[in-house]
Amino acid sequence: MHARGTTTLRSVSDEVKNDAEKSAEHVIGVGPWEGELPTDEKYDPQLLAEGDRRNVADKYRYWTMDAIIADLDERRHDFHIAIENWQHDMNIGTVVRTANAFLAKEVHIIGRRRWNRRGAMVTDRYQHVRHHATVEEFVEWANNEGLAILGIDIFPDSVPLETYELPRNCVLVFGQEGPGLSPEVHAAARDTLSIEQFGSTRSINAASAAGIAMHAWVRRHVFGQKVS
Ligand SMILES: C[S@@+](CC[C@H](N)C(=O)[O-])C[C@H]1O[C@@H](n2cnc3c(N)ncnc32)[C@H](O)[C@@H]1O
Repeated sequence: MHARGTTTLRSVSDEVKNDAEKSAEHVIGVGPWEGELPTDEKYDPQLLAEGDRRNVADKYRYWTMDAIIADLDERRHDFHIAIENWQHDMNIGTVVRTANAFLAKEVHIIGRRRWNRRGAMVTDRYQHVRHHATVEEFVEWANNEGLAILGIDIFPDSVPLETYELPRNCVLVFGQEGPGLSPEVHAAARDTLSIEQFGSTRSINAASAAGIAMHAWVRRHVFGQKVS
């Protein structure tokens, strides 16, 4: 009994030690810069001195936020993303993070200005996010920019995203968890596109739909894949 208890105690402390070691191994980012300090002004002196634990690609380690945004601005893609926000949709943070990853030109929030930033994992700092109080304001802005408004939802008149020739200059608009796209956006859209599903659920969540739609644009316009 005693021996078994001792063994248990030892294995618990080993486990604690292993967890500590494991978390030390999984610290994100890099420590202080080693060697001679770089002088280029894109580098942040504080990050060089203290290390860079931010959620950024390795290329941007130790860069100032302004330098990262300037670099992204030089090569942003021609698609925009919009999401309706009438009920504080929890998907918006994830949509913003994915828009950052796929380098959308801008993200547009239609409706309420406030949105839950948790899912964005601070990626919104590097992404241009614009607010439109009403659908009318949003539609006017998109028309002035010469962007095709494309709704993304499962309406009876939706056409399949998989075989749709996505225009280069467009804004992909997503709806909310319950109601989906508003009738106003539906009416203003050049077309509404649906993502084919095969299971029993009626729909996927807006953040998943946004990831799929953005990647369809990337496949078409970055990799030149035809839809046919
Ligand atoms: C949960 S859905 C909304 C409900 C949906 N309108 C319905 O009839 O049940 C939330 C949003 O996710 C997107 N979405 C979800 N599943 C989709 C699909 N299969 N194709 C296109 N968009 C989808 C749309 O933007 C939609 O407005």
